[in-house]
Amino acid sequence: MSKINLCLVFGGQSGEHEISIMTAKSVFRAIDKEKYNLSFIGISTEGRWCKFDSFDELKEVTKLENPCESNAKIDGRIIDFIQKEVDVVFPLLHGPFGEDGTIQGLFEMMGKPYVGCGVMSSSLCMDKVQAKKVFEYAGIKTTPFIEVHKYSYDNDSVDKLVREKLEYPVFIKPANMGSSIGITKANNYSDLEKGLEEGFKFDCKLLIEKAINCREVECGVLGNYDPRVSTIGEILPSNEFYDYKAKYFDGGKSGLVIPAQITEEQVSLIKESAIKAFMAAGCTGISRIDFFIDKDNGDILLNEINTMPGFTEFSMYPQLWKNSGIPYSQLIDELIQFGIGKFNGVK
Ligand SMILES: Nc1ncnc2c1ncn2[C@@H]1O[C@H](COP(=O)(O)OP(=O)(O)O)[C@@H](O)[C@H]1O
Ligand SMILES: [Mg+2]
Repeated sequence: MSKINLCLVFGGQSGEHEISIMTAKSVFRAIDKEKYNLSFIGISTEGRWCKFDSFDELKEVTKLENPCESNAKIDGRIIDFIQKEVDVVFPLLHGPFGEDGTIQGLFEMMGKPYVGCGVMSSSLCMDKVQAKKVFEYAGIKTTPFIEVHKYSYDNDSVDKLVREKLEYPVFIKPANMGSSIGITKANNYSDLEKGLEEGFKFDCKLLIEKAINCREVECGVLGNYDPRVSTIGEILPSNEFYDYKAKYFDGGKSGLVIPAQITEEQVSLIKESAIKAFMAAGCTGISRIDFFIDKDNGDILLNEINTMPGFTEFSMYPQLWKNSGIPYSQLIDELIQFGIGKFNGVK
């Protein structure tokens, strides 16, 4: 059988740029090289694309800042290369311009199969407000919330709405972000004022959610139209909540507990809800689905779907699948096959 030409795309303009480069290295090390011919495209923090000729050129790279001489963001030669020499693309990108449907749209236009969620589900899941509306429509319980727009709000009326509909404490989040960037917790009016200002630095649309006294559990979903759910894992944040620092800079103090120590009944409710959410959002290939378990009343609430979850070998998603009997290299392989299968209209 001839080898499949696979292109890894990594880096990107989000806060997870460096994580994404680590992911590309991790995928490179684990992937079956008998089966795939690999090529590498890095996207700089400014959004410029650059092709690497071999993995050796990447070994020492931790950050890509303006690596190409050309002024164009996407050089025509790179488009040409993908169209002519690549069979399938694996975008290993997180956040805006990676996980939000934009790059997926580019691959659609080019007629190239790619790994993971398509345009609609990627952009839907990136927008926490729109995603929650879809989850509610599908009958999946989520945290109560209100949405606030930058050009039509004032602090007093938001405070009034919070008191009427949610009650303090609340979480304030940019609708389109990730990695806990711009997220704050507000216990009162003064925190709310500051939190709104902070959130609006990152997006024109915010959501304010009731703060839940919760355990955080996550599961992996894999497949297209008949997806499987992994073991469930629990996050034990090292900070008050799972903020940017706890996620990336706590020296591994935030713990992952796999499998989560929850009841059989909770396991089946979460798995059922995860599949329902994956289908409702139209996801394909990969997603990590995050839930809160309310410690006060036991409610299971869907928090969010991540269409490109952390994907180094030691990230939650691969670890959950490892625990479910699918090692990292096989997981990579299956994801690529689902990307090709979807493109060819195979279930
Ligand atoms: N409504 C909430 N109640 C309690 N904790 C929350 C709530 N919303 C967010 N958090 C905390 O903030 C973290 C980041 O929020 P999340 O919505 O998952 O955003 P991101 O997309 O940045 O991961 C969560 O993992 C959790 O620790
Ligand atoms: Mg999250």
